[in-house]
Amino acid sequence: MTRVAIFPGSFDPMTNAHLDVARRAASLFDRLVVGVLHNPKKAPMFSTGERVAMIREALADLGPAVEVTEFDGLTVNLAERVGAGFIVRGLRAVSDFEAELQMAHTNRKLHEEVDTVFLMTTLEFGYLSSSLAKEVALFGGDVSGMVPPAVARALAGRVASGG
Ligand code: PNS
Repeated sequence: MTRVAIFPGSFDPMTNAHLDVARRAASLFDRLVVGVLHNPKKAPMFSTGERVAMIREALADLGPAVEVTEFDGLTVNLAERVGAGFIVRGLRAVSDFEAELQMAHTNRKLHEEVDTVFLMTTLEFGYLSSSLAKEVALFGGDVSGMVPPAVARALAGRVASGG
């Protein structure tokens, strides 16, 4: 039986915490599809295409068992589209838990054949968030230990062009 999982998120942009979860999930499942949410109601720093490209570069060494795609609408619809039985989400701290629990129950209510699997983010990345990395970059701080190289380059480019 092939075990397929999706790892959905906004990834605006991907951080090393996301990368850590993606890499560990890739080793647990036969196929992992990273789903980048295209949300027309939000104004992200990076377009969906840019976010997909940065994640593809960061995960390229994992080979064809890891795919990156954009999606809109419901996460469970992405799961159904790619034939996934699992949704992977990272937990950095207890503060993440409540919202994640609510999402997991909602997704299960919408699609009872999909289970959510939580991975605890590696301790050294437990403080990280996309917003924090963006803020550090915007104020000229060093984000090299916080985000993959492709993201660090893109953030530097955005800062140089005025945000
Ligand atoms: O990286 P994020 O912003 O924490 O990811 C949140 C995400 C994209 C997983 C969540 O907002 C989501 O699943 N959005 C799609 C809409 C949906 O399926 N809503 C119902 C489940 S809560």
